[in-house]
Amino acid sequence: MTIKEKLEDKRKKEKQAELGGGPERIKKRHQEGRLTARERIKMLVDEGSFQEMDKFVVHHCTDFGMEKKRIYGDGVVTGYGTIEGRSVFVFAQDFTVFGGSLSRANAAKICKIMDLALKAGVPIIGLNDSGGARIQEGVSSLAGYADIFLRNVLASGVIPQISAVMGPCAGGAVYSPAITDFIIMTQDISRMFITGPEVIREVTHEDVTMEELGGAETHNRLSGVAHFSAENEEQTLGLIRELLSFIPDNNMEDPPEKESSDPDDRVDDGLNMVVPDDPNLPYDIRKIIKSVLDDHYFFEVQEDYAKNIVIGFGRLGGKSVAAVANQPDHLAGVLDINSSDKGARFIRFCDAFNIPLITFEDVPGFLPGVAQEHGGIIRHGAKILYAYAEATVPKITIITRKAYGGAYCVMASKHIRADINYAYPTAEIAVMGPKGAVKIVHRREVNKADDPEALVDLKVKEFRDKFANPSVAAEKGYIDEVIEPKFTRPKLIAALRMLENKRDENPPKKHGNIPL
Ligand code: HXC
Repeated sequence: MTIKEKLEDKRKKEKQAELGGGPERIKKRHQEGRLTARERIKMLVDEGSFQEMDKFVVHHCTDFGMEKKRIYGDGVVTGYGTIEGRSVFVFAQDFTVFGGSLSRANAAKICKIMDLALKAGVPIIGLNDSGGARIQEGVSSLAGYADIFLRNVLASGVIPQISAVMGPCAGGAVYSPAITDFIIMTQDISRMFITGPEVIREVTHEDVTMEELGGAETHNRLSGVAHFSAENEEQTLGLIRELLSFIPDNNMEDPPEKESSDPDDRVDDGLNMVVPDDPNLPYDIRKIIKSVLDDHYFFEVQEDYAKNIVIGFGRLGGKSVAAVANQPDHLAGVLDINSSDKGARFIRFCDAFNIPLITFEDVPGFLPGVAQEHGGIIRHGAKILYAYAEATVPKITIITRKAYGGAYCVMASKHIRADINYAYPTAEIAVMGPKGAVKIVHRREVNKADDPEALVDLKVKEFRDKFANPSVAAEKGYIDEVIEPKFTRPKLIAALRMLENKRDENPPKKHGNIPL
């Protein structure tokens, strides 16, 4: 072949590879209103930045007549590009080729970029859309999955791993996204489950649709498996870009900074009135979070799951921070099984990736109830305690109102290495709420009293005067400063600046044993 012919041959092959499963299948996809794997990548990364790898890889299966069905790329597009100028690795499963199913050869493509991403210290993004294990390849395909799972685990806490589920993701295949740091599901088209509706019908006689079982809403609202629910494919990819803007390339880097014209010393008089006079009235903790962050912008994570705790990203003075906040507007902000799990995983992510933790605390304690106890609230509540105590990133806590009981200790108290602990004058720091305390401590007196109700009221008032304020904690140095709410933003920014070069570490060990 002449050079010209060789070049032409290469171009022809490339065109063929870019057609994946062929024009008919691409057309069908477009008719369904869906994008192809390559279109998704194009929309995700900076224009013209994508460098595809292994474009000509084919499978080596010879069973079931597969030797006659070889398609360049073999059902997954892999490579690297940039997002806002920062390098990322991406794989996108191509449903037009054997339903995006995972073969040994296409698993090897994914593993190759995972290994490179780890070496290069840059995030990896997976766009999942697959019928699962390539049935014709049997155990070879399962081996491919296991190879990916291992790499997901080894990369965990070293480089950020983000999964979008933009189609089916079933059976054991779900465990790769599950190990990654964030899962974004596209409404109506994404499905995640271990066993599908038919198997469930046979085994447990339950009737359930695919959507009810494993759709975006289910995993965002009920199971807590997913972190974001996007309305469509474009929004899914946009969420990945935005999420990355808050997190660093790897565990040795700091998150990128974003300048803001929002003054560091901005005060918000309205904040002085956010916590209601009546301690039993709810309020939305997001009002405080949004008020203090740069440009009032809060990027909430797992918005629909365990709403009694609010988590998400924002910036203070241009630097990424993570907010973890009890939400008095939902179940009075109690800690329960799900909110503990949600908070703990997020705290560990932020600690692994050098994102300071800002805790807003208004928590009446752990949720009482047989279901909670039997469901293991002891074990689950311990996770959030463990995560906070183990975290060595800057930790700043603001007690806005209630900090009762064990929850006081857990929510980034001074005693578990928080760096700066503020309290609003409305803070109530005690072993329990005044009524509960009086019932226990003064039970005998109350039972014998001529007017038990009057005595309870008196004792509650006494208790409230003594403990339902930040004074005792401040006197003991457990609170560094009682601040006027309107100054929260400048106070936080000053503390963060002071902690910029914070150094802290845990004793050397293989790894801890978080109560899972
Ligand atoms: C090989 C597959 C495939 C698979 C789909 N295809 N899944 N080929 N292995 N796992 C092929 C189909 O044969 C078809 O090829 C093309 O992809 C499109 O599939 P359709 O069924 O026409 O598409 P659709 O109607 O949209 O249905 C999509 C689907 C369905 C729901 C994903 O294909 C499906 O149920 N597939 C099997 C899912 C499954 O049970 N996988 C194994 C899960 S267990 P043609 O040539 O006809 O167009 C698993 C274990 C992993 O994955 C364990 C890891 C540890």
